[in-house]
Amino acid sequence: MGTYAMTGGATGIGAAIKEQLRARGERVIVVDIKDADIVADLGAKAGRDAAVAGILERAPEGLDGFVACAGVGPYLPPALIAGINYFGVVEVTEGLRAALERRRGGVVVISSNSAPMSTDAAYVDLLLAGDEAGAGAQVTGQNGQVAYSGSKMAVARWVRRNAPKWAAAGVRLNAIAPGLIKTPLTASATADARFADAMKAFEDSIPVGRAGQPADIAAMACFLLSPAAEFVCGSVLFVDGGHDAMFRPDQF
Ligand SMILES: NC(=O)c1ccc[n+]([C@@H]2O[C@H](COP(=O)([O-])OP(=O)(O)OC[C@H]3O[C@@H](n4cnc5c(N)ncnc54)[C@H](O)[C@@H]3O)[C@@H](O)[C@H]2O)c1
Repeated sequence: MGTYAMTGGATGIGAAIKEQLRARGERVIVVDIKDADIVADLGAKAGRDAAVAGILERAPEGLDGFVACAGVGPYLPPALIAGINYFGVVEVTEGLRAALERRRGGVVVISSNSAPMSTDAAYVDLLLAGDEAGAGAQVTGQNGQVAYSGSKMAVARWVRRNAPKWAAAGVRLNAIAPGLIKTPLTASATADARFADAMKAFEDSIPVGRAGQPADIAAMACFLLSPAAEFVCGSVLFVDGGHDAMFRPDQF
């Protein structure tokens, strides 16, 4: 049995990852804003610090893996989206680095196939520079999609930038870029009369003919955390039923 930690395990994709890891016999320490071993708000630095401290206290032996899954959709204030989706991922992952090195653990970050649609390069650069106030100011007043896709681009680039040096210390960093997955996050948009038709058309356009389920992403996360994935490092894996290939066939 290994020791794993994750954020966002209460619902949706994270709940499926938690269940699949536990079914494999692993111990999983969950951080979330609700229904978790460690209840913490990753939108604020104090919550991120509490998450790291709580995990380290519960796993003095180190970590075999960490999944940064907590995230919010495009309907919150843009600066908060940046705080949760970027800093809630990067600060917690960095805080766990020594614990992951101790057991040569793996890290999976949940990005999104909307990352390549990000449009504000300055915002992404401010995120990657670690400037939370600057990134928040840059994105405030913009459409939530700009905040969301930019946060997902930034976490994917953070994984790629850091993968080589983390790998040298024994820790593999990878990201998953899910497409449309049926979870509470997307259910709220589907149920909203303003977006229902667009959501339906988007779902109908998925090449494999269906929307994703949380278990589709959990299966990839569990693979990436397994010995079978020992040579997978620094990858951003699109698990989206073919949507990214459809939208951007020549870019990869
Ligand atoms: N559902 C999709 O179509 C889709 C597509 C691409 C990427 N994603 C990403 O997958 C991840 C999981 O999303 P989901 O679809 O399962 O949604 P979800 O809403 O079911 O899950 C999100 C989880 O994050 C937690 N969370 C939210 N805000 C938090 C905060 N401030 N502090 C701590 N925890 C917090 C929630 O409580 C929940 O458990 C997110 O990062 C999301 O951006 C989802």
